[in-house]
Amino acid sequence: AEARSRISVIGTGYLGATHAACMAELGFEVIGLDVDAAKVAELSAGRVPFYEPGLEEVLTRNLASGRLRFTTDYDEAARFADVHFICVGTPQRDDSGAADLTYVKAAVEELGPRLTRPAVVVGKSTVPVGTASVLAARLRALAPAGDAVELGWSPEFLREGFGVTDTLHPNRIVIGTDSERVEAAMREVSAKQIADGVPFLVTDLQTAELVKISANAFLATKISFINAMAEVSEAAGADVMRLAEALSYDDRIGGKFLGPGLGFGGGCLPKDIRAFMARADELGVEPALSFLREVDAINQRRRARTVDIARGLIGGGFAGRTVGVLGAAFKPNSDDIRDSPALDVASTIASLGATVTVYDPEALERARREHPELNYAHSMLEAVRDAEVVLLLTEWAEFRDADPDELAKVVAEPKIVDGRNVLDPERWRARGWTYRALGRP
Ligand code: UDX
Repeated sequence: AEARSRISVIGTGYLGATHAACMAELGFEVIGLDVDAAKVAELSAGRVPFYEPGLEEVLTRNLASGRLRFTTDYDEAARFADVHFICVGTPQRDDSGAADLTYVKAAVEELGPRLTRPAVVVGKSTVPVGTASVLAARLRALAPAGDAVELGWSPEFLREGFGVTDTLHPNRIVIGTDSERVEAAMREVSAKQIADGVPFLVTDLQTAELVKISANAFLATKISFINAMAEVSEAAGADVMRLAEALSYDDRIGGKFLGPGLGFGGGCLPKDIRAFMARADELGVEPALSFLREVDAINQRRRARTVDIARGLIGGGFAGRTVGVLGAAFKPNSDDIRDSPALDVASTIASLGATVTVYDPEALERARREHPELNYAHSMLEAVRDAEVVLLLTEWAEFRDADPDELAKVVAEPKIVDGRNVLDPERWRARGWTYRALGRP
């Protein structure tokens, strides 16, 4: 049998660390590279520097097997691998919303001059449409192996908290390329998924780049659609939860990503729709995506509305009041606080003069570093002690399952804002709570 390709993964954040460990799990020899020596040391010791259920087991198992290792040394990665995955971040650059391509470009500049034999480079980072073809040309120009170094783009759709499952069992694999060698390399590294029946789509570079960003734009739009319906429901006295349920039975609509509440945050959806608008502007098709501005605005309004509901419950202003907040991560099963709606709301309330105490099962350390204006508690009960209003802002299972009687014993006033529509209003009201939620009477 032909020798299997050896793999490098450049960038070991959420995406890269997961990708590297999963490729090793599939039996490939993998080297993960990061310029951050501390991250490399952590991963080499079998520790995942962020919360991702199941990843540590896959990591330690494959470190032990010898199939996986980590380095800061580009020479080593270039020498070792035949297929290089670029998994570095593409954060929002500034207020223009455009994507910052510094790290992607740096990866190409570092790797390129070291590619002395034929190699395939596959980008996985989310980039503005049109980026990959520019990088492909740059790579050929930099590489001593010249045209024998080819670049394709294979967007990654993994969700934080489900990274391992989403990588091993994706719902599709897309590779943008016009090179047979790139396609063959992707088929080889995806052999297991292809055998499992996962759709494998070969497209041009531009289409592959667009698939990712348009998928995220669609998901953001779906969330903001139902949140717009929540706004209407609030004004009309309707119940958006019943509305969403009724809509979900139409299988053309479906119930996923139709959950009304505080809206979307995280490292992807908010920045991706802004970068997409910025790119459409450059391409001269700004009107095609102007609706995404509304999607963003609807999403932001949910945060303001949550603050208003809490203000209404507490009566009068926030100055000198005590507020308990459940949740800091942008979603449950994650310790990621990037553009977290929960922390945005908590921080706004604190800026209005309240003493705000936050509890989150995983994101406390990160929150503490970024938001010193908030107080932090090590348990749910501690966070709501003496609170005049409680806000549930990230739907961790621990909060969904909270016992209204337990909480009632420690709060100053049994008043709760369910920012994620996960509590049963009947149950909480029956135990004496004033219950308010977004989009419900
Ligand atoms: C997202 C995409 O799902 C993933 O495919 C892509 O690769 C990266 O971006 P992620 O950011 O991990 O993944 O989070 P996701 O689970 O999609 O949730 C995004 C946000 O939407 C969260 O803040 C969540 O609370 C919110 N959301 C989700 C809702 O407000 N309502 C919903 O019905 C669903």
